[in-house]
Amino acid sequence: MATASVDKQSVDPLPGPPSIPHLSKDFIWGVSTSSFQIEGATQEDGRGLSIWDSYGRTGQVRNNDTGDIACDHYHRYKEDVALMRTLGIQAYRFSVAWPRVLPNGTGAVNEAGLAFYDRLIDELLASDIEPWLCLYHWDLPQALEDRGGWMNRESVAWFTDYATLIGKRYGRRVKRFATFNEPAIFSLFSRSFGTRDRSADDKLNRWIHHVNLAHGAAVDALRAQAPGALIGCIHNYQPIIPSSASEADVKAAALVDAYWNQAYPDPQYLGEYPQAIRAGIEPHMQPGDLARIHRPLDWFGLNHYSPVYINSDPSALIGMGWGPKPAEIPRTPIDWTIEPDAFRDTLLTVSKRYGLPVYVTENGYGRGDDEKPDEIGAVADPGRVDFLRSYISALDAAVAAGADVRGYFVWSLLDNFEWDSGYSVRFGLTYIDYKTQRRIPKSSFKWYADVIRLARGLTPAA
Ligand code: FCB
Repeated sequence: MATASVDKQSVDPLPGPPSIPHLSKDFIWGVSTSSFQIEGATQEDGRGLSIWDSYGRTGQVRNNDTGDIACDHYHRYKEDVALMRTLGIQAYRFSVAWPRVLPNGTGAVNEAGLAFYDRLIDELLASDIEPWLCLYHWDLPQALEDRGGWMNRESVAWFTDYATLIGKRYGRRVKRFATFNEPAIFSLFSRSFGTRDRSADDKLNRWIHHVNLAHGAAVDALRAQAPGALIGCIHNYQPIIPSSASEADVKAAALVDAYWNQAYPDPQYLGEYPQAIRAGIEPHMQPGDLARIHRPLDWFGLNHYSPVYINSDPSALIGMGWGPKPAEIPRTPIDWTIEPDAFRDTLLTVSKRYGLPVYVTENGYGRGDDEKPDEIGAVADPGRVDFLRSYISALDAAVAAGADVRGYFVWSLLDNFEWDSGYSVRFGLTYIDYKTQRRIPKSSFKWYADVIRLARGLTPAA
């Protein structure tokens, strides 16, 4: 088996490992990616278009970037799994591109697309890496968007058929499934509403309810096809902080909290919508809907980056304006605040509120285009190492304080297509030279590999 090289280090000795005395030896260490962000090959082997292909063609992504090639993972998946082996992870979280396996979203199945994920899953299993499969990481088939997308209640049936196909095909080999990645994010920031003003609030409510119904139906479909699989949903849960003590800002932040943090996990895990949005959802409910959404789950997926600072903006969707971030708080190069204590607190909050084992399915550090190989071809990223070190230590502190956290996945294995920012923002432990597709493990890659080995009681790599 090919093994990636991480030998070149032009940096001073790396900082030591995080302090993790409270994590058990079977704590799961992993990395996450998503289909559209890494696969490329968007027009190969019968794949249909996704909404992100269409959006890329509108020229609104920075530098006019598209996902057409991305990290060319579709062709280079073996090299990427070799990187994972070098890293020593136990689990890899990825998503299936719905339009690759069902080019029109429903109906005719694309065997060549299914076969790609067969190859990927087999390669992972042969490498002793557990596949964690997410059904939906935002790349809705364009054909379904043309039929109203998530605004159409039929989307529940479309998603159920898709989940059934995936469960049937992979359910004997894949034992961990997530239905959605960050439903709150792709709802709140969807462009499909056509408007971002308050008049879209009702559309948002309807959309949320359909996605929740689709989640519940997919859980049942997966359970029928893959008995014994462990199923969850992945939520972007962050403290929502009003940027002033004014009544308007405090009220706005409370409503954003309900939409951003609880609108999905509360009905999914607890069987009810948060009070603040119940009246808005009500017109879209049919009898029995809450029971359809509230299906038994096994774990809670937390994606966490940093708190969100909110101002009241009465003219915006749900009254959500971006508030100023306190000047004294350190930031990553892409201006996200670095607040490991907020991560610890969030882990405690979600562990207590939802009562199931929590897996951190994303956490990471983004940097702009100035992240580059040095004269000897190495990529030193001490800022990312410091970030990961402080966040992993905060995770340990949360466990010490009683949070039931069982795993941690870094976003991301590779630099990749960062949505509206295209390739201008890099989150990877591995640098991608997009001209040559060469993969260069950064110093954070080596550091994380050592953390994993130490945590698992193995000897660090030389
Ligand atoms: C999360 C997304 C992921 C990636 C990171 C930086 O919100 O799930 O795809 O873009 O942010």
